[in-house]
Amino acid sequence: MPRIRADELIDARERTLALVADLRDEELLVPLLPTINPLLWELGHVAFFAEHWTLRTMLGRASLLPGSDRLYDSAKIAHDTRWELPLPSRAETLAYLDRQLEATLDAPYVDERSAYFQALVLFHEDMHGEATVYTRQTLAYAAPQLSTLAPPSIGVEIEGDASIPAGRYRIGARRDDGFVFDNEKWEHEVDLEGFRIARRCVTCAEFRTFVEDGGYRRESLWSEDGWRWRVEARAEHPSLWHRTKEGWERRHFHGRIPLRDRDPVVHVNAYEAEAFARWAGRRLPSEAEWEVAAAGPGRRRYPWGESPANPDRGNLDGWYGDVVSVDAFADAASPWGCVQMIGNVWEWTASPFLPYPGFAADPYAEYSQPWFGVQRSLRGGAWSTRARMLSTRWRNFYLPHRRDIITGFRTCAR
Ligand code: AVJ
Ligand code: FE
Repeated sequence: MPRIRADELIDARERTLALVADLRDEELLVPLLPTINPLLWELGHVAFFAEHWTLRTMLGRASLLPGSDRLYDSAKIAHDTRWELPLPSRAETLAYLDRQLEATLDAPYVDERSAYFQALVLFHEDMHGEATVYTRQTLAYAAPQLSTLAPPSIGVEIEGDASIPAGRYRIGARRDDGFVFDNEKWEHEVDLEGFRIARRCVTCAEFRTFVEDGGYRRESLWSEDGWRWRVEARAEHPSLWHRTKEGWERRHFHGRIPLRDRDPVVHVNAYEAEAFARWAGRRLPSEAEWEVAAAGPGRRRYPWGESPANPDRGNLDGWYGDVVSVDAFADAASPWGCVQMIGNVWEWTASPFLPYPGFAADPYAEYSQPWFGVQRSLRGGAWSTRARMLSTRWRNFYLPHRRDIITGFRTCAR
């Protein structure tokens, strides 16, 4: 397994700090909501997780913050309890982060596990950074200032389906992939019937037509769970949309901007995605279909090939600070012609999050296993996701009613 470079850990930490640097102390202590954590807790949790694996587990060291186990262990500290803890101050928490990073960077390389845990803590930190973006959106804080790139240039409009022939395909992590999470292990065969999958995600204009056609009032379009959720949530349209005299707007962090027709619809849950798909006479892709559509018959690591992402290939890492048009990055399409399979928005699939055949939990056993059969698989990656973690095989998972994730979807022909 290749070693994680010091500059990657430093870069992750700079992002962690940049995502909270402009917030006031009160803003780090958030209202109790099921989908978010106190940002002050989350900062300490990042340091705790990193020292837990790279220093305490690997080297047998004591914690750099006495009592940290009673504060930051996410497997032991129930979600609602995180609002009642005697958390260290912001300055103390930042000092804990500093001590941890310095010690992690100085840690001697013992064996392969050193590289494994460095990658684990790197990606874990990246994931909590993305959660911080969601939290800032949920609470209508200011938009994070991450980048200043102008929106990508657009060529022709992407329309229609890619046709993917029936066959025996392979999905899942390959042995030479380097670090992979346990839920991706290992490569295995799946038999797929021929299918047709949209070359792009569903747009705001399309979803608006569904809303204005009474999509949220027609029970027949919704699954049983979906309709129960809709009634209870009294949902009438995507959560961040507002109808004004001039037309629809969406909330983007603390501001509102007009809905743009060719943006992907985002912040919809799996139930809303399924209802739209039924209305359109279509369906969501299974996870295996999604992976095959993204990777092509040659099992590409990225839709565009084997070389890493950059701002000409996708909307990642906060490069563009928001979603961009579904028509962008047409040159980085998958071999079947599907665009933006990595970046811009996460994509709901029809598949429950389940283990692959022969699954065995890795040392961080609470990462995947507790959520099998409970959560739903998502694929791709959003503008808020760090590019270095993603591939066509990477699996994300959330409860299907979550609307705070930067998630859209694409559909398949029935
Ligand atoms: C894989 C993004 C669903 O945020 O719940 C962070 C990542 N797990 N700390 C989550 C995670 C433990 C996880 N997701
Ligand atoms: Fe975590």
